[in-house]
Amino acid sequence: MAYLLNKLVTLALFLGSIQALNNGLGLTPAMGWNSWNKYGCNINEQVIKSNAKRMLDLGLDRLGYKYLNIDDCWLLANRDANNHIIVDPIKFPKGMKEMGDFLHSQGLKFGLYNSAGTMTCQRLAGGLTYEQVDALDYASWGVDYFKYDNCYNLDLPGPMRYNAMRDALAKSGRQVYYSLCSWGTDDVWQWGNQTGNSWRTTGDIRNEWKSVVSNYQTNDLHPESAGPGGWNDPDMLEIGNGGLSDSEERSHFALWAFAKAPLIIGCDLTSVKTSSLNILKNKNLIAINQDPLGLQATCILNCVSDIHVIGAQQNGYFAAMVMNWNDDLPQAITLDFALMGASTSINAACKVTDLWSNQPIGTFVGFLNTPVIQPHDNTAYKIVCDAAQ
Ligand SMILES: *[C@@H]1O[C@H](CO)[C@@H](O)[C@H](O)[C@H]1NC(C)=O
Repeated sequence: MAYLLNKLVTLALFLGSIQALNNGLGLTPAMGWNSWNKYGCNINEQVIKSNAKRMLDLGLDRLGYKYLNIDDCWLLANRDANNHIIVDPIKFPKGMKEMGDFLHSQGLKFGLYNSAGTMTCQRLAGGLTYEQVDALDYASWGVDYFKYDNCYNLDLPGPMRYNAMRDALAKSGRQVYYSLCSWGTDDVWQWGNQTGNSWRTTGDIRNEWKSVVSNYQTNDLHPESAGPGGWNDPDMLEIGNGGLSDSEERSHFALWAFAKAPLIIGCDLTSVKTSSLNILKNKNLIAINQDPLGLQATCILNCVSDIHVIGAQQNGYFAAMVMNWNDDLPQAITLDFALMGASTSINAACKVTDLWSNQPIGTFVGFLNTPVIQPHDNTAYKIVCDAAQ
């Protein structure tokens, strides 16, 4: 009964969801860094600022990684007498306005976190019913990105809770990228793009390949919801956190880039190893992620096997990656350009560039045989086809 009621309220709110999100942000997926995957609650001013400085030193900001996002544990459990959130005075003694000013002085953008419930997931002061006062505080601190989690939500419908914050942020007068972290609940693919600039389609990612695969696959179910202004979000990156092999880190990044997922780095940038950093800095994959057409790639060829061709049209070229999901077997496959939608004719000549080596690998008529791809690894190509002769 409670379940049915919840469904009905969700439906009514969805049908009556008058106000579309129209904040001018998220025309391409957000790129940045977030504290949670590496640090959890072990954050403070030094941790955040040292990672922010490394974003600049490593040149990540110039590649598009602009948002520096503080996740849970920046605040206390109780509010002050006037219902304002209290910033944790031990972790952030200078407060959040100073943090916002610092990040902006570095050319970065400032992201903050709360939950659309009575408490955050770590049982600190939640945002539910305090949307107006919080949105004004965030605006006064210079917040540019707001992640809203789903803990302690009293089973109230997602659209109601998330729209309340959307409208409060809009009223604050500040442009804030709004990241819904509702774990794929309440059929978020139906209303997420009216509410936020991205919406989580899954539970939290874990630092292991199985979780990367499962989050990717769930996130792949509703590509029609995504586009410029709003994106499906399979959660933040685990690259650099040590739980994935080099092949798996490459595939994690390529899958997220092709899916037009927000690219939010989640490792310690002060000690990230070079191989992980080079993956995060792949300009070809970043260009696909940030492509203005904003088409979420899906499986386009060989989709009943465990070696998939995943691809989509980009602005001026076709992009395809071949993903070997198999746990043990190296595999190769033939890419038929017409079958996969890269060309309109079976005898078109297609110029192919390898997106990992950044080298042209030749011009092929009709098809290309890939090299052998190792388990959990991928190849990725830019394909430009001439009209058929
Ligand atoms: C928003 O999502 C709905 C439901 O998936 C979809 O039909 C619609 O085209 C999407 N709107 C945009 C602008 O992408």
